[in-house]
Amino acid sequence: MKIIRSPTTMAVWSERLVREGVKIGFVPTMGALHEGHRALIREARLRCDALVSSIFVNPAQFGPQEDLAKYPRPILQDRALCRKEGVDVCFEPTVEAMYPSGFQTMVTLPAITRRWEGEVRPHHFSGVATVVTKLFGIVRPKMAIFGQKDFQQSALVRQLVKDLNLGVEIVVHPTVREEDGLAMSSRNVYLTQDERKRAVMLYKSLRAGAEAIGRGVTDGKAIGSAMAQVVKKEPAITIDYLAVCDPTTLEPLSTVRGKAVLLGAVRLGPVRLIDNILVVAKQARRKF
Ligand code: PAF
Repeated sequence: MKIIRSPTTMAVWSERLVREGVKIGFVPTMGALHEGHRALIREARLRCDALVSSIFVNPAQFGPQEDLAKYPRPILQDRALCRKEGVDVCFEPTVEAMYPSGFQTMVTLPAITRRWEGEVRPHHFSGVATVVTKLFGIVRPKMAIFGQKDFQQSALVRQLVKDLNLGVEIVVHPTVREEDGLAMSSRNVYLTQDERKRAVMLYKSLRAGAEAIGRGVTDGKAIGSAMAQVVKKEPAITIDYLAVCDPTTLEPLSTVRGKAVLLGAVRLGPVRLIDNILVVAKQARRKF
């Protein structure tokens, strides 16, 4: 596996392969790789000829009070995982190379980021959209894989690729979970043993929403309360949002007919957890 740090060297490597007609697959990450990332890399490996993964803790997507400085950076472990899973190039640019002095272009998607994570973390998504656009320009992938856990992020990337005609196929891989259902996340390492036990409450609440839909409940508010009831059993948890939304626009649904996404974010001590479940409500059968 090659380790490339310079964006120019990366672009030259990709340019040669693109000219030869090689299909480049791409898994962008911020490192601290876990089984969820491994699943993305494995899927990309099956779908492409050459595989690039980036490890870049992107300062532009962290708010001033967020965990940029303490974000885990186990680079040797990360490289070992990439090497084992058949990554061809691990792209590890520096902050200075990605955002040199004089850098000024930011990419924003106002509608899709208006709510949920976008509301709680202002500027986060313009940091994500900007770095993803830059990485796509440097790596030139034919396809890129994102995890469903960051549902709003993957919806944003799909919209970005469509709006800017970037010509990258976006694949969203289902969330990889711990045995009890907790979604895997690089930030789970911040949880104490006690918080870790309680953290599964978020997934349980999303399941309660999905079960209500399965029983035929279609009213968005009623589904929201079914989810909230579960989290409220755990006093240490504060709800940021629990919502029933259209999976493309992420606008809240007052009535669920067909596809919906249940989105949730909660705070447990200093840790914020996010998760989601996609559901399809059964359509009422037409009677003849
Ligand atoms: O999901 C992530 O790890 C990051 O938001 C991404 C897509 C690598 C952009 O920095």
